[in-house]
Amino acid sequence: MAGIVTQELAELIITIDGPAGSGKSAVAGLLAQRLDVPHLDTGAMYRAVALKALQAGITAEKPDQKRLAELAGNLDLAFDWSTSPAKVLLDGKDVSNDIRRPEVTAIVYLAADNTLVRAELVRRQREIAAKTHGLVTEGRDQGTVVFPDADYKFYLDADIKERARRRFQELTRKGISADFPTLLADMHLRDQQDINRGVGALKLAAGAIVLDTTALNLQQVVDAMVKIIGSPRHG
Ligand code: DC
Repeated sequence: MAGIVTQELAELIITIDGPAGSGKSAVAGLLAQRLDVPHLDTGAMYRAVALKALQAGITAEKPDQKRLAELAGNLDLAFDWSTSPAKVLLDGKDVSNDIRRPEVTAIVYLAADNTLVRAELVRRQREIAAKTHGLVTEGRDQGTVVFPDADYKFYLDADIKERARRRFQELTRKGISADFPTLLADMHLRDQQDINRGVGALKLAAGAIVLDTTALNLQQVVDAMVKIIGSPRHG
């Protein structure tokens, strides 16, 4: 720990929103460690619904929205905070890797676009925050919809080419072959889906602090956040 944790800091709710590839997950994980609070990856919750949907035979061609909402309502989903990153448990099974599979990513918009699924996941996110003492939560709508009264709201952004480059590096590191132009096109598509979503669209929350991470590394971003959180309250 960086030695900045006081009782007051450990109780904070901090939201981090931003587009795919802006570094939210890595930043949120590290910031949460520094503050000694859990890190909630809300994208993982939408991905868990999408995985469950795949298992139930729901596809982009056969998007049964009613069934999708039912699946979300009955979802046996939990986080194991004892590891960093936290393990995602679906029906008691560790699905942390499964929810990142391309076929899940390809249909996750079905879950994210479904108003009833969103309402259920928002409810669960607030329930989690009520049980933890302090939380760093990341996604698309955390500062706008889920926790509009959060203590600190951050919006991470980065140039789209840089975000695609990060994704390319990440996949290459994992030994997965990737094609940069395809990744860039995919990033563009995901931006459009996130920005144009009817509910929970990606936008800047009132009072959010924007950090452009294009030229910053992970440590620099987290240091900038810690500096803001550790300094006298702005606004
Ligand atoms: O951050 P991610 O790529 O793991 O998110 C997966 C999907 O879930 C993404 O397409 C956007 C959506 N999402 C959302 O709509 N709201 C959130 N709070 C988090 C993610």
